[in-house]
Amino acid sequence: MKPIAATSSQPAARLRILTIETTCDETAAAIVTDELDVLSSVVASQDALHERFGGVVPEIASRAHVERVLPVIDEALRKAGLTLDDVDAVAVANTPGLAGSLLVGLTAAKTLALARGMPLVAVNHLQAHIYACRMASGHDVFPCVGLIVSGGHSSLYCCAGPTDFTPLGGTIDDAAGEAFDKVASLLGLPYPGGPAIERAAVAGNPKAHRFPRPLLDDATRLDFSFSGLKTAVRYLVVGPGKLKDSGIGAQRLGPNACLNPEHRTLNPSSLSDVAASFQEAVVDCLVGKAELALARTGYRTLCVGGGVAANRRLRERLAQSAAEHGYDLHIPPFALCTDNAVMGAIAVERLRAGKIADLSLDILPGPERTASK
Ligand code: KG4
Ligand code: ZN
Repeated sequence: MKPIAATSSQPAARLRILTIETTCDETAAAIVTDELDVLSSVVASQDALHERFGGVVPEIASRAHVERVLPVIDEALRKAGLTLDDVDAVAVANTPGLAGSLLVGLTAAKTLALARGMPLVAVNHLQAHIYACRMASGHDVFPCVGLIVSGGHSSLYCCAGPTDFTPLGGTIDDAAGEAFDKVASLLGLPYPGGPAIERAAVAGNPKAHRFPRPLLDDATRLDFSFSGLKTAVRYLVVGPGKLKDSGIGAQRLGPNACLNPEHRTLNPSSLSDVAASFQEAVVDCLVGKAELALARTGYRTLCVGGGVAANRRLRERLAQSAAEHGYDLHIPPFALCTDNAVMGAIAVERLRAGKIADLSLDILPGPERTASK
């Protein structure tokens, strides 16, 4: 196996780490150094493959990863001007995520580690989302409260250090991004739903509908619940009870066929009002619980990661909150909020801490449930 530390008589050579990310529907690879320089980053999005289904189809995702993972790794090496001979370690996100998707990345990483005699490093995808803040800020962000808001997770962590994460709370049902995606589907907006709702919300009145803010008033819990909020939107748009067959089915056959049988077409101004009111309710919950987590831990830094952190209204409200309460806020630029392999640079911290995996490393699929009760 290649040495991973320089001897004391030699100057420390820069280590180059290949990071691989295939937890959900983005195939990504990056080359980072142990000084946290990013030599290259490649992300192959699968949005176009899943759009017509209104959400990620796991089997389609894993098949697409199989086709793309090697070209994406090759492209990352090419962009960095390197070959595999120049790579010193390989890191891979092995949890949480979709089983088939995780397996593709892990198999690629293990194969490279075995064939090239390189150390293998396991990355937790959620911790990596927080580490994106470290990468973007260029300086240490720990200790901090970590808020991960993605398609599968809405989780709060006490992050004492880059290898020391303790769950504080999380969603008890849907994730924030999942709620965005499902409400978007109901409104006939394209997948991924978050950006589509954000665009529709720009012209809307966030006070037009008073949707619930589940668990927000419960100061004993750092948890979220977005399923009821999603249902409240459904009741407003479709009405309560079972869907009648008449009328709605016909919409599925139209030129812009939407696979959600509950899809309703609203006029643009009503749609914008629903989108803005829904978005505001989600943002209220996320900001409120992040503030509570900071108060509980006594930490003065909040790091936010995950696709929903790309939401401009959330970023604006968190910036207001940080100014009001006097804490440091880190939210990465958009490209580092959604899934990418640069955030896999957290592997550098794990390498330094001697946390090297062996070839028995397995996937831990499914969501990482962090709810406090
Ligand atoms: O972190 P991510 O890329 O993948 C997961 O690990 O899930 O997050 C994807 C999620 C999707 O649910 C998507 O709708 C949401 O992030 N998202 C947004 C925005 N951009 C992406 N949600 C709200 N506003 C956005 N601008
Ligand atoms: Zn993610």
